[in-house]
Amino acid sequence: MWVDIHPGDARAGVVALTGATGFIGGRLARRLRSAGWQVRVLVRPAANTASLAGLGVQQLKGDLEDQESLQRLVADTYAVIHCAGTVRGVTPAQFNRINVEGVARLARAAVSQRPRFLLLSSLAAREPGLSPYAASKQQGEQALVAEAGEMPWVALRPPAVYGPGDRELLPLFQWMGRGIVPVLGSVGARFSLLYVDDLAAAVLQWLHQPQGVSGIFELHDGHAGGYSWDEVVAIASVLRARHIRRVPIPALLLRLLAGLSVSISRLGGYAPMLTPGKVRELRHPDWVCDNVAISRALAWTPQVELAEGLRRTLGWGEGKGKGKGQVPESG
Ligand SMILES: NC(=O)c1ccc[n+]([C@@H]2O[C@H](COP(=O)([O-])OP(=O)(O)OC[C@H]3O[C@@H](n4cnc5c(N)ncnc54)[C@H](OP(=O)(O)O)[C@@H]3O)[C@@H](O)[C@H]2O)c1
Repeated sequence: MWVDIHPGDARAGVVALTGATGFIGGRLARRLRSAGWQVRVLVRPAANTASLAGLGVQQLKGDLEDQESLQRLVADTYAVIHCAGTVRGVTPAQFNRINVEGVARLARAAVSQRPRFLLLSSLAAREPGLSPYAASKQQGEQALVAEAGEMPWVALRPPAVYGPGDRELLPLFQWMGRGIVPVLGSVGARFSLLYVDDLAAAVLQWLHQPQGVSGIFELHDGHAGGYSWDEVVAIASVLRARHIRRVPIPALLLRLLAGLSVSISRLGGYAPMLTPGKVRELRHPDWVCDNVAISRALAWTPQVELAEGLRRTLGWGEGKGKGKGQVPESG
């Protein structure tokens, strides 16, 4: 039986968070702290923790591949929020180690404590055949379900998330700010988007629910039916008060670039972002999701559609002297 607990309440205990040195987890750590929660974060020994300085979070050295550190992370927690994951790689094994086995390990560590558990999955989990990343996100959800037992669990499936601190979508928006944008998706494709603070608000709403909810939920910024590339460019053009030239990148060229990027990454010994699987994700025509189930379950409503999100992220449309493509807030 779950009772109504609020952050100021001594019973509230600790929220364990993974991925706090990353884009979404970092934003979430800030939001959790400003809402008054005690936060314990898992940080890898070599991670750059500069963004966590002064936040007042308890840092625990460990790794998703180290079961003992996960045990310490979740000890006596009220909730576990699992934001760590890998979006770069080539082979299923590279993704599964973190996105599947990591989820299973963390859930296994948590289950005896019976916190409520939130997994940051991805809308990509809806299309597991597209890429090893997408498959790993779906299998991560399945691993959580298999381990959860009586523990209430939620998996959120956001579409592309953007905001201060983002490293994936931001370069594309910055190109738009300069008046030119490579269009990587297929003509006619539609996709939902989500501003990072709306995602954080959904997580807080889940945390503040009196009852532990369980289920898989999609969520987006409230722009029903998603965006087309034309709509995104039109919004950016208005904010920047300039024409933005679209340069469609043919699928064949993207595939060639992806092949090249994989070969170079092998030589360099790093995990690439642009891969054949990523190209199939980018060319997928339908990344539109809906908020019906999550709004009912969590009474969450998004606040920030794209124009406002770009204003907040890049300072666009805020008058002269501002918005020259700089990021006004740090992640
Ligand atoms: N960004 C999006 O648009 C988006 C959309 C949908 C879903 N998601 C999901 O959201 C999650 C976070 O994405 P993000 O964009 O914030 O990614 P990110 O910026 O790359 O951050 C990833 C985080 O995971 C941590 N991590 C990776 N491997 C780890 C391991 N073995 N042990 C412990 N921590 C590990 C990283 O730590 P280090 O600092 O040590 O590397 C970092 O804190 C991912 O699961 C992703 O699938 C993202």
